[in-house]
Amino acid sequence: MSKIIATGKYAPELAVSNVDLEKMMDTSDEWIFTRTGIKERRISQNETTLDLTYKAALNAIEKSNIDVKSIDLIIVATITPDYFTPSTACLLQSKLGLDDRQVTSFDINAACTGIIYGIQIADKFIRSGSHKRALVVGAETFSKVLNWEDRGTCVLFGDGAGALILDGEENKILCDYTNSSGDHLLNLALPAVSLTSPFSTEKQKEPQHLTMNGSEIFKFATFVIKDAIEYVLEKSGLTAEDIAYIVPHQANQRIIAKVSRMMKIPLEKFYMNVEHYGNTSAASIGIALDDLYETHTPKIGDKIILVGFGGGLTWGSILYEV
Ligand code: ACO
Repeated sequence: MSKIIATGKYAPELAVSNVDLEKMMDTSDEWIFTRTGIKERRISQNETTLDLTYKAALNAIEKSNIDVKSIDLIIVATITPDYFTPSTACLLQSKLGLDDRQVTSFDINAACTGIIYGIQIADKFIRSGSHKRALVVGAETFSKVLNWEDRGTCVLFGDGAGALILDGEENKILCDYTNSSGDHLLNLALPAVSLTSPFSTEKQKEPQHLTMNGSEIFKFATFVIKDAIEYVLEKSGLTAEDIAYIVPHQANQRIIAKVSRMMKIPLEKFYMNVEHYGNTSAASIGIALDDLYETHTPKIGDKIILVGFGGGLTWGSILYEV
């Protein structure tokens, strides 16, 4: 049992607009905006994933008014860590001055669904009684893994971090759902370390950048967003009318518009800020939720659904009460 008691975010200062990209490659503001709803994205010039993670975490901690030393669980969702080891979560623990505490810290990889998986795991740790207060951060420096010569992918993504604090005093996570299917490697992939020891007999063939089959991912996304929303509504005996806001992974406005039509849920219920950040992968839901709290001020008792989809393939949702 837990409650989301605070949200926070951080995005690098440099905003790169579609018009800026027109100067770098054969693309146009019109193409990008009409297909995705993206106008600009933030790009890190020198900040690392840890820097973004730390600043988003501090932002959430400041808003929560908690003593940072009460955090006993740190989960960072990222597919663009600075190191395979130490994990971003361990480095964050140190940067927050928690090295003298008993803290469980680890990174998870569920791509753009990462923060949904993170909230689910944190809630279950807290429910078990082993931990009391969790910091969950989704953070990415996607700009470092993009192929900037592939206009089909590089215009879609941005850098940033979104953070949440879950506290064990109240039970407001009403339902959670995660799912995955590893059968679609070629539709969305980001290779890690290649097999290049003196003993390997084949050369690495895959590029070391993100590759994506956009139209397949589009179809997958509309199907699984619907699945993830329906699952938590059915399990909790609620209808879409009972929900104040739906905060989806921010990949593409057209995907959300299609889901809204398919499910007959008004588009206004879906919070979107992809226009300003692009797709920030694991960071996107946390950044969007923090923006929602700043601009719409949800009321106590409002029910919100967070819904994610992404590489793995993975998808999932969290239904919670403010
Ligand atoms: N600027 C101009 N033209 C472009 C660009 C660009 N940046 N990129 C591709 N094109 C061209 C293509 O070369 C193609 O030209 P051609 O017809 O002469 O061959 C044409 O535009 C159409 O390309 P498509 O790929 O068919 O365009 P589509 O309408 O499918 O839109 C898009 C592509 C926006 C990627 C869409 O498929 C999509 O949104 N898919 C979902 C992707 C997604 O959400 N990914 C994230 C989820 S997972 C995660 O978050 C990690």
